[in-house]
Amino acid sequence: MKGVILAGGRGTRLQPLTNLFPKSLLPVYDKPMIFYPLDFLIRSGVKDILIVIDYFHADMFMKYLHSGKEFGVNIQYKIQDHPHGLPDAIYHARDFVGDDDCFVVLGDNLAFDDVSTQVKSFKSGASVFTKAVNDPSRFGILYLDENDSVSDMVEKPEDPQSDLAITGLYMFDNTVFKKIPKLSKSARGEFEIVDLLELYLKEDQLSYTTLQEAWFDVGTFQGLQEAGFYISNQ
Ligand code: G1P
Repeated sequence: MKGVILAGGRGTRLQPLTNLFPKSLLPVYDKPMIFYPLDFLIRSGVKDILIVIDYFHADMFMKYLHSGKEFGVNIQYKIQDHPHGLPDAIYHARDFVGDDDCFVVLGDNLAFDDVSTQVKSFKSGASVFTKAVNDPSRFGILYLDENDSVSDMVEKPEDPQSDLAITGLYMFDNTVFKKIPKLSKSARGEFEIVDLLELYLKEDQLSYTTLQEAWFDVGTFQGLQEAGFYISNQ
């Protein structure tokens, strides 16, 4: 299993903090944000990690993380010239992932579960991690049927029928790189992660696990503050 951290987003919701600094390097209590998704992947047993970044901040990521040696892993970097949505960012990892599977983690997602068992047992399809949230309109949301199987997914629903957020932690088999070119841009002009997951759902190849520990999307000031508070109390 290869690891991929997507850290190329513009972080518009965190302006002016992100006017000069990339979102994923902003401090979350005691560390730059990206140290947390990196640590999550390392604890999951992933050893080869690609970080997808924008050209403007590439040197800053390298200055913090180097080759990954001090973390006991191999880190490489890939430039995403223009942000076109998460599936496009994932597609930048195709050469790095090769024939392997990949564990994609968003650079602003902080998760504290030990998912090494799920990583070891992953065979095929796509597997997502969910968490119940108070504000489902901010997230990709998973809908379940009466048997608790996935029935549908909606990105940031206006009138959410479920509170189960799809966190920014996704395990994909290698067919992801055949599926992404089939996607079309959504009304907001981006390739959407839920459209990619829908392709797995149609093949009956989508599974989910609910996180037991805390989870934060640190893409907003509130998320940044809550995550910092949580970490300072550990
Ligand atoms: C992205 C995804 C969304 C997911 C969220 C998790 O949204 O599009 O499906 O629930 O990450 O953090 P964003 O926070 O980039 O708007």
